[in-house]
Amino acid sequence: MDLFFKRPSKKAREAMCNAALKMRHQKGGRYGEIAAAKESVSGITGHEYVKTVNSGNSAILGVMSSFKGKILIPDQGGWTGFKMMADFLGLERVEVKTDRGIIETDLLRDTIEKKSPEAFFLTSFAGYTAEQPVKDIHQICEDSGVIMVEDASGSVGDSTGRLANGDHAHVMVASTGSPKVVNVGNGGFISTDDKKILDNSRIILKTLKADPITCAGISEEIKIAPPVLSQTIAACQFLKSGLKGYETVLHPEKRGTNICISLDNPKKAGYKLRKSFNVHGGGMITVCPRYDRILADAVCIEIKNLDLRCLNQSNLEEMLLIINETLKST
Ligand SMILES: Cc1ncc(COP(=O)(O)O)c(C=O)c1O
Repeated sequence: MDLFFKRPSKKAREAMCNAALKMRHQKGGRYGEIAAAKESVSGITGHEYVKTVNSGNSAILGVMSSFKGKILIPDQGGWTGFKMMADFLGLERVEVKTDRGIIETDLLRDTIEKKSPEAFFLTSFAGYTAEQPVKDIHQICEDSGVIMVEDASGSVGDSTGRLANGDHAHVMVASTGSPKVVNVGNGGFISTDDKKILDNSRIILKTLKADPITCAGISEEIKIAPPVLSQTIAACQFLKSGLKGYETVLHPEKRGTNICISLDNPKKAGYKLRKSFNVHGGGMITVCPRYDRILADAVCIEIKNLDLRCLNQSNLEEMLLIINETLKST
């Protein structure tokens, strides 16, 4: 079985080459590629205002710098950049307890009431493993005057409309680095209907902007985000259903782009899986505990890191055999 780490699509790479070849000074930095990328982001998130930036963490830093109050984050399954950027900006951060990454709406309501945060940052999928009830979370935040920021790096283009949907997020941030759904290898974006957020961060956002070459890649990769995401989720659903006997598979019934399995010896299992999968150009095994996955002994099989052409039936069946064998022997 040959597995390949994701790389930007040929069309994206060609668009980036063309942007580089026709590069010349534009007055006021008004590059057509930047305007086109903003339009394509707006088209997919449904938000009116977009800022393209040079990374996902830049998007988080840019948005967070417009806040002065407390930043609420999930106790696990979020993104480490939420903590890093809040600490860097000297903002107090508070956590909401989760069910292994998944937000429980009653607990969220209580925590907001007790801690009065200004904003809540969360990822669309807890640890890339299981989708959050984003619509309900947004409603709770809306009702309590908290700005809900969805990190949609793993969910851009969700055709069900449940994730990365501007109707259910006050602000969206995303990385378009590698390996992401919009897989340019660099860059990111912020989208919102609340222009104040971008105005408040105007100066810092000037220093974090994306270049026209990255923007040319974003416009191309966004076109294929819906099939990339749906095929990745379908592959995970196939694997999760093949592992049904194991109670240790985390959130088996929920959509996700990786498979997380709790076990006693994650380092040993991770080593075995890494050796058996042998991905060309990168890796696909994460050993936990980790804040950005789950704070428990587990391994995550990162299907999201793989090129779509690897996710065929015969490879998926072989992967299932390997996972089953490893689980039995560790
Ligand atoms: C959910 C999530 N958000 C943000 C980032 C940061 O993105 P970048 O590497 O572009 O700064 C990552 C990176 O892996 C991520 O997984």
